[in-house]
Amino acid sequence: MNIIFCEDYEEMSRKAAAIIASQIILKPDSVLGLATGSTPIGLYEELVSKYNTGEISFSRVQTYNLDEYIGLAPTHDQSYAYFMNHYLLGKIDIDMSNTHLLFGMAKDIDQECQNYTSKLSSIVGGLDFQILGMGHNGHIGFNEPDSKFILDTHCIELTDETIQANSRFFGDTDLVPKRAITMGIRPIMNAKQILFIVNGSDKAEMLERALFGDVTPSVPASILQMHRSLTVVADREALRVVEQLHPEQIY
Ligand code: GLP
Repeated sequence: MNIIFCEDYEEMSRKAAAIIASQIILKPDSVLGLATGSTPIGLYEELVSKYNTGEISFSRVQTYNLDEYIGLAPTHDQSYAYFMNHYLLGKIDIDMSNTHLLFGMAKDIDQECQNYTSKLSSIVGGLDFQILGMGHNGHIGFNEPDSKFILDTHCIELTDETIQANSRFFGDTDLVPKRAITMGIRPIMNAKQILFIVNGSDKAEMLERALFGDVTPSVPASILQMHRSLTVVADREALRVVEQLHPEQIY
């Protein structure tokens, strides 16, 4: 595990973008796992700007998104399909047939989950790079705290904590969907590399538990300790507790 210290959100976004841009330069047909939420917005803006200056091209890149709310159409401005289009996919030269998103309006959610699991398992060698943020309760994608790690794509009842945390985007808790579909732990852990980005003091305790506490499904991000190539890029605030307890671990 590599923990890269950043002064603030802007530096975190720049360093994260440098890592992903290098990946695309070294392997133009990279397969990327993409995350949503407020954390990666700056990273995506940096990647769009690197595309605009001709530094990188996404023409051969493939993407797989982590999750989607059940019941939101891709045209809904809080759906993750809309988010991806708005912040990244609609602004770069990616072939849209190479982008893979979950469909929150699927009539048969179980079938949607199975189809996505099959798609993910057909990627030879796994995802090249999985980008991850972290929920306040330690969730990754929408893998919520549970009594076990769920390996494949599944439907999840969102916890009250997550509904509360994500209500800032919807304006009202009642408008937040109660269920979502998420990639499971298997394709995340099978990714060749993981970029874990975290910012803000409200995640400092959880980040320390995730990186140095017990590996347990009650803190889903803790599984990342077992990954062969994990890079954590986090800001000073998010690293507050890690810095106090494990200063030697920060790069
Ligand atoms: C959502 C997403 C996660 C994301 C999390 C954190 O719940 N499903 O993939 O990591 O939010 O969001 P934020 O970055 O806004 O704190």
